[in-house]
Amino acid sequence: MKNLLLEQVKSLTKKDIPLVSNLSNVSAILNTLEKINWCGFYIVKDDTLYLGPFQGEAACTTIPYGKGVCGTCLKMKQSIIVNDVSKFEGHIACSSLSKSEIVVPIIKDNIVMAVIDIDSPLINRFTKENQLALEEVAEYLSTLF
Ligand code: SME
Repeated sequence: MKNLLLEQVKSLTKKDIPLVSNLSNVSAILNTLEKINWCGFYIVKDDTLYLGPFQGEAACTTIPYGKGVCGTCLKMKQSIIVNDVSKFEGHIACSSLSKSEIVVPIIKDNIVMAVIDIDSPLINRFTKENQLALEEVAEYLSTLF
């Protein structure tokens, strides 16, 4: 199936400019998804996740390895869909609006460089199809790191 998100991301990013510029525009593209209240990146440095470009309310700046949905994604090196964040033990609530969440790792040379994090004010917002589309985006984004 055609991945519109990926096409938009490819058209608005360039390999020879700073990562922060590319990810800033990608966060704006992600923000066009329906029924979401936050989207953006956490970047890995020294096994810790640090807030990167995002759209939405101010969020926590640091997430330790293995903590929250994002830190668990970093540890497991795989995408996570949380249908109801109140049922995810250790979920880090940056906004009381967020009810479901998807986190997708950006992996380069088998190392997680960053994660894509998207929150929704609706329970059960994210589908396997969303996950697959975002994983293609993540695979492409890994080439920009
Ligand atoms: N909920 C995330 C924290 C980041 S915010 O959603 C922006 C987590 O549990 O890792």
